[in-house]
Amino acid sequence: MNQKKTKRIGVLTGGGDCPGINAVIRAVTKTAIMKYGMEVVGYLDGFWGLIHDKHRLLSYDDVSGILTLGGTILGASNRADPFRLPQKDSDGLGFQDVSDQVMENYRKQGLAALIVIGGDGSLSIAQGLFEKGMEVVGVPKTIDNDLSETDVTFGYASAVFNATEAIDKIHTTAQSHHRVMLVETMGRYAGWIALAAGVASGGDVILIPEIPYDLEVVCQKVIERSKKGKRFSIIVVAEGAKPRGGELVVDRIVEESTDPWRLGGVCRKLALAIEEKTGLECRVTVLGHLQRGGSPVPCDRILATRLGCAAVDFVMKRRFGDMVALKGNRILSVKIAKAVAKQKLVPLNHPLIVATKAMGICFGE
Ligand code: F6P
Repeated sequence: MNQKKTKRIGVLTGGGDCPGINAVIRAVTKTAIMKYGMEVVGYLDGFWGLIHDKHRLLSYDDVSGILTLGGTILGASNRADPFRLPQKDSDGLGFQDVSDQVMENYRKQGLAALIVIGGDGSLSIAQGLFEKGMEVVGVPKTIDNDLSETDVTFGYASAVFNATEAIDKIHTTAQSHHRVMLVETMGRYAGWIALAAGVASGGDVILIPEIPYDLEVVCQKVIERSKKGKRFSIIVVAEGAKPRGGELVVDRIVEESTDPWRLGGVCRKLALAIEEKTGLECRVTVLGHLQRGGSPVPCDRILATRLGCAAVDFVMKRRFGDMVALKGNRILSVKIAKAVAKQKLVPLNHPLIVATKAMGICFGE
């Protein structure tokens, strides 16, 4: 009997997790099964699963009830770049290119395509595999919102919500104790999270990597507030913020990672300097991974669902090497290569900066 072969596609989630990944996995799986009668293979722990051929078949029931779940049901890893796989031996840490093995594993599964849900690191790997002949479709994911060619990435709004809620709480204790409260947000080299959460939570000073700060200006602002009878100040600082003419503060270097630098510590340095210069009492809160955890906010659930559905449609249209992207209110296709070519930083003339500067918010310049 001539049996029609069911099409199979793969899906993986690379790099750091973020709220909304499960919503994409759900949309991909349900669209593939319901609309196209396909099978979906989920790779475990990102590219690690593809390297070691570790995966599981995703059924409709497997993805039911995961829309609101944070994290990723497939697991993720940011240390499994097939083009630069870390290998530890007696000589120390080295790197090996196992991309041929990855291509073999992919072919072995009889996959028609692989959907890669990732940020710039994972999508750069996806682009490399596409250039080796893999049928790849990208879905942009990062809380940092620093991926080019898409208006916004899912996960970002949830991170801003988490950071805003936290800063709101810090606000109340700042008022009671008349302190200068410094809050450090994530975002790597881009200030998107700090800018949005800083504005949403009524921060007095917002420091982002795109605008190197002047310590004198920051101190002036808190002193001025104190003189006006405002006995507390909230300073929201992106982890990548740096002083004018100064350097980023690096917490640690993770050699095995696709992006080895882990930023962190800028607030502690800044708090000491502000205390010394102003005599005002400072406290530091580093929001860290709290921003990445928990349930996605509604707009991230919606965006993630739209992107997941569109990614499967792209597979059917054979739009390989492309990434689903949000432009205005439409989901369009862009080249992965273009999206990862350069980071999307906050433009200095961003309307939110222009408007809030005019209101008196200090950006440290
Ligand atoms: O890229 C997402 C992100 O959360 C950044 O904002 C942060 O700098 C980094 O990942 C933290 O990485 P890790 O989870 O490896 O500590």
